Amino acid sequence: MKPLVLAMLSMYSILGVISPVSCATSPSLVETTFLQCLSNHSQSSNPISGVVYTSNNANFSSVLNSYVRNLRFSTPTTPKPLLIVAAKNYSHVQATVVCAKSVGLEIRIRSGGHDYEGLSYVSNKPFIVLDMFNLRSINIDLADESAWVQSGATLGEIYYAISAKSKVHGFPAGVCLTLGAGGHFTGGGYGNMMRKYGLSVDNIVDAQIVNVNGEILDRKSMGEDLFWAIRGGGAASFGVILVWKIKLVKVPEKVTVFQVKRTLEQGATDIVVQWQKVADNIENDLFVRVMLLPGNGSREGEKTITATFVSLFLGDSVRLLRLLNQSLPQLGLQQKDCIEMSWVESILFWASYPIGTSLDVLLSRVPKGLTFLKRKSDYVQEPISKTDLEALWKVMIEIGDGGMLWNPYGGKMSEISATETPFPHRAGNIFKIQYSFNWKDGELETTNRYLNLTRQLHEAMTPHVSKSPREAFLNYRDIDIGTNTEGEYKEGEVYGIKYFKHNFERLVRIKTKVDPDNFFRNEQSIPTLPPQVL
Ligand SMILES: Cc1cc2nc3c(=O)[nH]c(=O)nc-3n(C[C@H](O)[C@H](O)[C@H](O)COP(=O)(O)OP(=O)(O)OC[C@H]3O[C@@H](n4cnc5c(N)ncnc54)[C@H](O)[C@@H]3O)c2cc1C
Ligand SMILES: *[C@@H]1O[C@H](CO)[C@@H](O)[C@H](O)[C@H]1NC(C)=O
Ligand SMILES: *[C@@H]1O[C@H](CO)[C@@H](O)[C@H](O)[C@H]1NC(C)=O
Ligand SMILES: *[C@@H]1O[C@H](CO)[C@@H](O)[C@H](O)[C@H]1NC(C)=O
Ligand SMILES: *[C@@H]1O[C@H](CO)[C@@H](O)[C@H](O)[C@H]1NC(C)=O
Ligand SMILES: *[C@@H]1O[C@H](CO)[C@@H](O)[C@H](O)[C@H]1NC(C)=O
Ligand SMILES: *[C@@H]1O[C@H](CO)[C@@H](O)[C@H](O)[C@H]1NC(C)=O
Repeated sequence: MKPLVLAMLSMYSILGVISPVSCATSPSLVETTFLQCLSNHSQSSNPISGVVYTSNNANFSSVLNSYVRNLRFSTPTTPKPLLIVAAKNYSHVQATVVCAKSVGLEIRIRSGGHDYEGLSYVSNKPFIVLDMFNLRSINIDLADESAWVQSGATLGEIYYAISAKSKVHGFPAGVCLTLGAGGHFTGGGYGNMMRKYGLSVDNIVDAQIVNVNGEILDRKSMGEDLFWAIRGGGAASFGVILVWKIKLVKVPEKVTVFQVKRTLEQGATDIVVQWQKVADNIENDLFVRVMLLPGNGSREGEKTITATFVSLFLGDSVRLLRLLNQSLPQLGLQQKDCIEMSWVESILFWASYPIGTSLDVLLSRVPKGLTFLKRKSDYVQEPISKTDLEALWKVMIEIGDGGMLWNPYGGKMSEISATETPFPHRAGNIFKIQYSFNWKDGELETTNRYLNLTRQLHEAMTPHVSKSPREAFLNYRDIDIGTNTEGEYKEGEVYGIKYFKHNFERLVRIKTKVDPDNFFRNEQSIPTLPPQVL
């Protein structure tokens, strides 16, 4: 490390160029020096040349676009990386970190590419993408009920691998099958077993990372502070996750799912009123999500709201019906609505595949369809009254597009302390909201209109959601809540407090210790403390 940096610095001064860390050097010189550094660090057993895609490589665009999951960040004007390193061996990750640091290039780390604001593959500074999609092995140890999963593995691949080994094990993580373990877990990772088993990060027991010096560390060598930080604090501020060790959880051989849709005319409002009373304190085996969308009523020209209730129950339909008949009778759930299946089949059901679809779709890396999109989040701690819901429906009908997902909390989520991991949204939350808007053309005017609509709906919810701070979920990345491009610590950094509450201060201290020069950074990374504060 040290000699390389010194060699680099002297080379730069010979060429009469200013210090490489200033980022002011011309991209092509930086690129050339970076490539030379990579080749100097290449091991003969694992040549790095085969995994580097420079912008003149015929496959550069296809590799870049393969893991773009929001078309807003795939336009001709989107800033592009100088090159992509699609690491196949841990030595490639180490070399990339060492060389990017020594030439002063920013890196963006990408696993599944689902970051809602594209932070894993877009930057306004000269940058490279460190792509993890080739590192996707999954090794399950059933005797230990655990697995090592590399960061480029998708959730679909993980669910597939677990179910191939056991009918009674699963893992609590997200619904979308193409999410990458690298980004998804490090941002918390929630899914429909959250009320029973907590978040993905609550079930992670070890990890290997590459730190800012290019060293590979595991839980023991990184220490408990850093291991705490990467489980919910966003590893992109701290290092590169190579592999996670996850603890598998028990699932019954048969679970029950349902999806039931009700319009306002069919009593949706009363169901939602009651749902808020029970969703977070009902049995932990039950998870009922509500999806709220504006739509057409049954009569010509009439507008309504449809509330779709989607559920996973870790038990059979008899027990489910008894439970809902008691707690949410307004829904009128019937035996014919309930479908019993294996846990892995329920994953396909939740991903909207027809019953009977082959499990092979879990292995597909091609997303079901791409759109331009915007997401925001909120947390609700007091039930919203019937009168307020009715006013909200009017706003949603007026906006006439997009919608909200309401995901219940409680259960295991309330038992885990708010400081156990950086993810702070634990006891006291009834549900989390995702604001969701998709659109199909990338015209600036269309995009601005949809961004505005998303913000309007978010604005309308202000009286009903958490305050000081108005909390937000890191995995629902939202650039509207503030950025920190220069990486300087500011008192009460707004996005940091919203994502992490009091845990933000601990994250800043850990960041300052492990990456004092703020190499691992993005618009919403954890800033370092200025020297005088240390
Ligand atoms: C369709 C869709 C559905 C979703 N559903 C859910 C859901 O059910 N539950 C949920 O919790 N979230 C959900 N999300 C949000 C999702 O969890 C986050 O976008 C998550 O960050 C995606 O991880 P990724 O690896 O795919 O993304 P990436 O864009 O690759 O990474 C996201 C962030 O993590 C960093 N990162 C990625 N890999 C690494 C690594 N190896 N080391 C260090 N840093 C890394 C990136 O730099 C970036 O900052 C969904 C998103 C989409 C688009
Ligand atoms: C690569 O190695 C060569 C030979 O040892 C050295 O001259 C050169 O400065 C190195 N370049 C970089 C960027 O590390
Ligand atoms: C591009 O990808 C194709 C198909 O994967 C491959 O055959 C070809 O060699 C690649 N080209 C380069 C320049 O890497
Ligand atoms: C990388 O290469 C080395 C040998 O060159 C090998 O031992 C190791 O298993 C490879 N894989 C990873 C993931 O680093
Ligand atoms: C609602 O009806 C209008 C026409 O009245 C139609 O254009 C639109 O596609 C319908 N929307 C939905 C969601 O069915
Ligand atoms: C629901 O409860 C009512 C009485 O409270 C009872 O009549 C009905 O049979 C129950 N239905 C189911 C499916 O348990
Ligand atoms: C949306 O646009 C309208 C009109 O252009 C403007 O008045 C309003 O303030 C905007 N709302 C938000 C939340 O940006």
